Amino acid sequence: MKLVMSKEIQDEIAKEGILAVLEIDDEKNAVPLAKALLEGGVKIIELALRTKAAYSSISLIAKEVPQMYIGIGTIIESGQAAMIKNTDGVRFAVSPGINPEIVKEAIAADLPFAPGVATPSEIDLAITLGCRTLKFFPAEGMGGLSYLKSVNGPYNHLGVKYIPLGGITVDNLASYAEFSPVLAVGGSWMATKEMIKAQNWAEITKRAKEAKEIWNSVRHG
Ligand code: 3PG
Repeated sequence: MKLVMSKEIQDEIAKEGILAVLEIDDEKNAVPLAKALLEGGVKIIELALRTKAAYSSISLIAKEVPQMYIGIGTIIESGQAAMIKNTDGVRFAVSPGINPEIVKEAIAADLPFAPGVATPSEIDLAITLGCRTLKFFPAEGMGGLSYLKSVNGPYNHLGVKYIPLGGITVDNLASYAEFSPVLAVGGSWMATKEMIKAQNWAEITKRAKEAKEIWNSVRHG
């Protein structure tokens, strides 16, 4: 079975380790935001398709900040996978939950895709559909790392990898990084909607840097 996310993309995400989840309300903030994250060493984003400015922001970042590795979040509607696949600069996509129809659309579009899972049944379904890279969401809401460790038990031998998202901050990031099935970790705390709106680029760079330092010290220290 062809895997929904290739080893190459998985390796690229794992190499960086930190993903900034972004909700952009105004496209004029897209480029300075991407630059602020890059300055802090964060090169992967999950840009959520939750605002009107999302598509134009993707195009602007792809054009002006080509070093940014663009992932798209909130793929929850039919047709979005194909549309995203044809958007310049997009490398992969994720969804908060697992909808088999959406996963099949991602496969048909050849879009590297990590569906969201939170329970053993959802992990089973994801595996059946050919997914081995999964968004674990909402990570903290489900019980955090200790829950992830127990739920992963029966699947560990299959080499399933997780991207925990939801409630991650600078305070719990290190413990997730210590668990090897975690491919990467991320969240919106590095660049919240409020910080983006206030154009607080210095704070975003600071938080990105802090996150990368923690990840690197656990994984490469
Ligand atoms: C996501 O879309 O991945 C989540 O909203 C991220 O969760 P957080 O806002 O708690 O970081």
